[in-house]
Amino acid sequence: MTKYDLDMIDVTMPPPEYEPMRQYYFMRLCRDILGRMQAEKGRPLTCCVNTFGCQMNARDSEKLLGVLTAIGYTESEDENADLVLYNTCTVRENANIRVYGRLGHLHHYKKQNPDMLIGLCGCMMQEQKVVDKLRSSYPFVDLIFGTHNVYKLAELLYSVLSEKRRVIDIWDKAEAIVEDLPVNRKYSFKSGVNISFGCNNFCTYCIVPYVRGRERSRAPEDILKEIRALADDGVIEIMLLGQNVNSYGKDLETPMTFSELLREVEKIDGIKRIRFMTSHPKDLSDELIAVMRDSQKICRHLHLPLQSGSTKLLKAMNRKYTKEDYLALALKIRREIPEISITTDIIVGFPGETEEDFQDTLDVVRKVRYESAFTFIYSPRTGTPAAKMEQVPDKVVHDRFDRLLAEVQDIAKEVCCRDTGKTMEVLVEEVNEKDPSLLTGRLSNHIMVHFPGCPELVGRLVHVKLTSAHGFYYHGEMV
Ligand code: SAH
Ligand code: SF4
Ligand code: F3S
Repeated sequence: MTKYDLDMIDVTMPPPEYEPMRQYYFMRLCRDILGRMQAEKGRPLTCCVNTFGCQMNARDSEKLLGVLTAIGYTESEDENADLVLYNTCTVRENANIRVYGRLGHLHHYKKQNPDMLIGLCGCMMQEQKVVDKLRSSYPFVDLIFGTHNVYKLAELLYSVLSEKRRVIDIWDKAEAIVEDLPVNRKYSFKSGVNISFGCNNFCTYCIVPYVRGRERSRAPEDILKEIRALADDGVIEIMLLGQNVNSYGKDLETPMTFSELLREVEKIDGIKRIRFMTSHPKDLSDELIAVMRDSQKICRHLHLPLQSGSTKLLKAMNRKYTKEDYLALALKIRREIPEISITTDIIVGFPGETEEDFQDTLDVVRKVRYESAFTFIYSPRTGTPAAKMEQVPDKVVHDRFDRLLAEVQDIAKEVCCRDTGKTMEVLVEEVNEKDPSLLTGRLSNHIMVHFPGCPELVGRLVHVKLTSAHGFYYHGEMV
């Protein structure tokens, strides 16, 4: 769905200076070129956008795909396509390695289809050494752009298509937030909604502030307008997205808290479920806990990254809370909202981590009893302070990682079965991949449920009796 009719754009005029009209102008030009290419080939041209990394990248990819389909590409899951775009992540080194590995496959496809275009964008492209390497050793990549100019896809692609040359455009800072570009949503019934971009926290291990820039909140009017339009389009669940949603609004001309924003979102008819990601513990207010507790729509799930249970390491990580602060917060949330599930992110092997520090992490895990936890091995990122600190030996890190994973999984198995026998509301998300007679959906607390049902129910809220628990998911029956 595009906001403006491309046929109405006068391409005999010079391109507009202002956004988003400038991009619509280039979409129209790209569409004209693509039309001629399709006529010559006698077949539609396909595009494949592949996303690495977080929900923010996934949302950006929906916008990239929105532009590509608006100009006439047909979406394809297959990477053997006429245009392949990788939206990359660089939060850990293995995300980078995967991209380089897969570029080899794309090169192979391109040898068979020389007109194929290969594009790379996203966080990895904001690293100078990555772009240098691509520039010198990957000449078959046609288009490279970063996170700050992601909205310019149409304009950049036009240069590639019309001038038949490689285009590399990376900005080191963000300019204004561009609204109202086309979006092609992956799900008809749920959607991410950006509320802020970038991050100001500079946790010492993390590259995100360097590749995504400073925190910028979107204007509340724009957020609410987008959510109303999504609701009109059939969306019932939204996920508000930001690296630290709890600091939303501090940078606005008229400051507004995240809790105030949530209260406004709650009023929008048609939206039945509200989720958000990610909450930094240091900024989680009592007001937010109260808004969640009293809300009919905010889901009973909080992702509250711990990173480490050791106060000493939390300080070295620049997280700005102690073990005790975190525990007090998590236990207060459990007390105020007993049916909530709390999930987390934990890093093992941060520089200087001793067995005692690691025991502190295990202690928090045992006390909070997470419904699930993402566990990561610390990965040094160039340019971050922690990369220069003394690293923990691999063998020690792997041993701790295995012990943490076992603990996290044992606890999750115990806590995730607490609603067995109850009937609860499930948003049906898809037909089960392994067994098509089953549907797969999620409870408000984000735990998955599989149950027999027909595909027409996808996107609907239904009541399911949870008949048996299997660690991280339930089996159930519709009632
Ligand atoms: N803004 C979010 C996190 C975004 S990155 C927050 O502050 O919670 C997602 C997760 O990746 C982080 O929570 C952290 O656990 C992990 N991570 C980030 N940098 C990492 C690194 N250098 N090595 C290992 N894990 C890392
Ligand atoms: Fe990275 Fe910390 Fe910002 Fe999260 S809050 S994105 S971990 S710097
Ligand atoms: Fe990765 Fe960028 Fe997200 S580095 S985790 S895709 S913000």
